Amino acid sequence: MQDTNMLAAMYISQSRIDRSQVDELVSASLSNNYNLGITGGMIFTGRLFAQVIEGPADAVNNLIDKIALDDRHSGFKILLKEPVAERSYRDWNMGYVILPFADQAIMPLFEDDYSPAQVAKLRQILLTSIQRSHNLDCMPR
Ligand SMILES: Cc1cc2nc3c(=O)[nH]c(=O)nc-3n(C[C@H](O)[C@H](O)[C@H](O)COP(=O)(O)O)c2cc1C
Repeated sequence: MQDTNMLAAMYISQSRIDRSQVDELVSASLSNNYNLGITGGMIFTGRLFAQVIEGPADAVNNLIDKIALDDRHSGFKILLKEPVAERSYRDWNMGYVILPFADQAIMPLFEDDYSPAQVAKLRQILLTSIQRSHNLDCMPR
C-alpha cells in the first residue's frame, strides 16, 4: 500500500438506522475499504456517528462524497480534511466501537461556534477508543 499523497478526513452525523443495520454497514465497509486502500475508524454512540477515513487522496475524496449522500444518516458535517504523512489507523480498514458517552464530545461540533480544540479532542477519542477496543479483543487475560 503506497503512502504518498495521503489524506485524512473526519466527519460527524446523526444515524437514521439501528444497531444491527450499522453492523451490516460496517462489515460491508470493511471489505470495501480494504479494496480501496482506506483505513480508519468509526464511533457509533447509539444515535451519532463520528468517522475518520485515511488513504490515497482520490479514494478518500470519492468515499467522503459517497458517504455524504448516504440516506442512512443525516446532518453530515465534515470537520477535517487534511494531508497526512502517515496513517494513524494502519491496522484497521474499518475500526468500529460503540461508545455512548462520546455523544458529549460530538454534540457541540454540530454547532457553528465549535473550536479546533474540540475537533482535536474528538479525533483523539476516536483513535484511542479504537486502539483500546482492539487491544481488548486481541489480548485476553
Ligand atoms: C455512517 C456511514 C459510514 C460509512 N462508512 C463507509 C466506509 O467507511 N466505507 C464504505 O465503503 N462505505 C461506507 N459507507 C457506505 C457508503 O455510503 C456507500 O453506501 C458504500 O460505499 C457503497 O457504495 P456503492 O454501492 O456506490 O459502491 C458509510 C455509510 C454511512 C451511513
